[in-house]
Amino acid sequence: MYLTRLVYASAISERFQAGDIESILQSAKRNNEKLHVTGSLLFNRKYFLQCLEGPREALNSIFQKILSDQRHCKVCLMGFESVRRREFSNWSMHYIPDNLLTREVTLKYSADDVLNPFTMSSEGAMGLLVELSHSQPQGS
Ligand SMILES: Cc1cc2nc3c(=O)[nH]c(=O)nc-3n(C[C@H](O)[C@H](O)[C@H](O)COP(=O)(O)O)c2cc1C
Repeated sequence: MYLTRLVYASAISERFQAGDIESILQSAKRNNEKLHVTGSLLFNRKYFLQCLEGPREALNSIFQKILSDQRHCKVCLMGFESVRRREFSNWSMHYIPDNLLTREVTLKYSADDVLNPFTMSSEGAMGLLVELSHSQPQGS
């Protein structure tokens, strides 16, 4: 099974409700752990930016569920590639809340200082997720 990394962006839908992020994280952590999938999810109340790493088939099946989830829309696959190592190996799903997303760090990895993951490269998106994940304690 090839170790693979998937990166995508999406926007919240009209169906999204306060409290949905907790249930998304709960099922992500539960399901991903069973499938040896790790990753990070950034949410700024408007957009999601997520990286998933793990066995290729597991990523495909999780992504199919994510695609049909009505709590978000405009799901845009930004990257899907084999990788040598994981960036988020300590987290079944790491969560990055928007208070960590400063203008400085956004500007470092994108053309603007306001986050819009649809305008970012997959490398920029990964850079942002890695920097923000490692600014928090491991496993949180
Ligand atoms: C932005 C977003 C990210 C998600 N990330 C994951 C994930 O990493 N793993 C996962 O299993 N489900 C994830 N989900 C939830 C799935 O769409 C789906 O609701 C869930 O896998 C259903 O699993 P359950 O039947 O065990 O609750 C995500 C949903 C959204 C909207």
